[in-house]
Amino acid sequence: MTPTVQPEIIKLPSDQDISGRTFGAEEIAAVTEVLQSGVLITTKGKFGKRLEESFAKRMGVKYAYACNSGSAAVHTAIAAINPNPGDEIVTTSITDMGALTPIMFQGAIPVFADVCPKTLNVTAQTIEKVLSEKTKAIIVTHLFGNPCVMKEIMELADARGIPVIEDTAQSPLATVDGKLVGTIGKIGAFSFQQGKHLTTGEGGIVVTNDDDLARRMFLFINKSWGYGDANADHYFSALNYRMTELQAALAVEQLKKLDVCVEQRQKMAKILDGKLAGIDGIEVYQSAPNATHVYWKYCLRVDDAKIQDGAVGLAKALKVYDVASAPRYVVKPAFKCQVFTEQNTLGDSHFPFNLARPEAVDYAEEKFPGTFKGLHDVLVLPINEKYEARHAEFLAESIREAVESVRISGSGANETGCVVCGGNRCFEN
Ligand SMILES: Cc1ncc(COP(=O)(O)O)c(C=O)c1O
Repeated sequence: MTPTVQPEIIKLPSDQDISGRTFGAEEIAAVTEVLQSGVLITTKGKFGKRLEESFAKRMGVKYAYACNSGSAAVHTAIAAINPNPGDEIVTTSITDMGALTPIMFQGAIPVFADVCPKTLNVTAQTIEKVLSEKTKAIIVTHLFGNPCVMKEIMELADARGIPVIEDTAQSPLATVDGKLVGTIGKIGAFSFQQGKHLTTGEGGIVVTNDDDLARRMFLFINKSWGYGDANADHYFSALNYRMTELQAALAVEQLKKLDVCVEQRQKMAKILDGKLAGIDGIEVYQSAPNATHVYWKYCLRVDDAKIQDGAVGLAKALKVYDVASAPRYVVKPAFKCQVFTEQNTLGDSHFPFNLARPEAVDYAEEKFPGTFKGLHDVLVLPINEKYEARHAEFLAESIREAVESVRISGSGANETGCVVCGGNRCFEN
């Protein structure tokens, strides 16, 4: 059923163009300065270093190293851990592919943990199930800007001496117990891609407090050339993952706006939370009481017993309001992609999967109830720092009307249980 009265459409700012991005005179001046200097390479210019210093300061860490994508940041983190071929790295079944293929490029096996269906985040419980003697690291992804339950995860990892890499691509400045995510584990990896809070089109950065990991990360980004060493050499197999001075100059200015960007997103999310609470058939995403969510995206869970065609049906109904939403986010779990189902890696070797324990590459659906349930129910909605109250109110009203138009009449009570923990344990930070 579509609404009988055509709604008044307000065009929402988009993070895919200037309507939803914050580039202004500051960024133009910084990029112009780089061009006028003629120095575009960070090994010779000042902006790369300035970015690393200011990012480390804002994160409260000893080291930050800029690189040219979030994928490069994750790759750098894994290379710093230095797994042996066939070692395992536990990661999430729902993430961007750029966070997964670097594992194989370093010769390690990604082992997928299930996620909480309410947050789509890994939990200590789901990670513990897939740990083995071969686990060399755990990667946690704070999906959509909503932090994982870090206390339990760190307790588990610390008890076994396993380093945690935080994929912070979607969650800069999110906190758990007042601590910034990305600084709780050993390494934080950030992305500055077009749609991220802080953007340079493509770009990334890694942070750590660990001297040895920092050294390896610096080297990995720089073809492992020992800049400044007495007998400098290329010490190990590494890439050129440097960003340019143009990106760094842009990032320096974007970083100054990051706190305001996050605050504005949080304000808009609060309006949405208030207006959408209690609407039968949808549930707003929760975060743990001791965590702050930074809203890379704003997500709903859609109950398909109450909404015709669930998240897909609601997304279709929202098109009437010109609201572009993504039902089921990445649509399928990572392990359903050909790179994993066919183990398409180097030539026809299937390396490193040819070294894997059978259980590590067993992607049987019954092992991932939270993944399938979570993806089935999630509707990902746009949000960014250019939203004003009128945009959030329009979005909330569009959702309310769209829900009415696709509601299945006579449906019963809200479903509350969690298929992973059976209750609310996934949220107890
Ligand atoms: C969680 C996560 N990790 C890693 C990446 C990879 O970042 P990039 O696209 O900058 O390579 C992304 C990008 O969207 C992401 O969302």
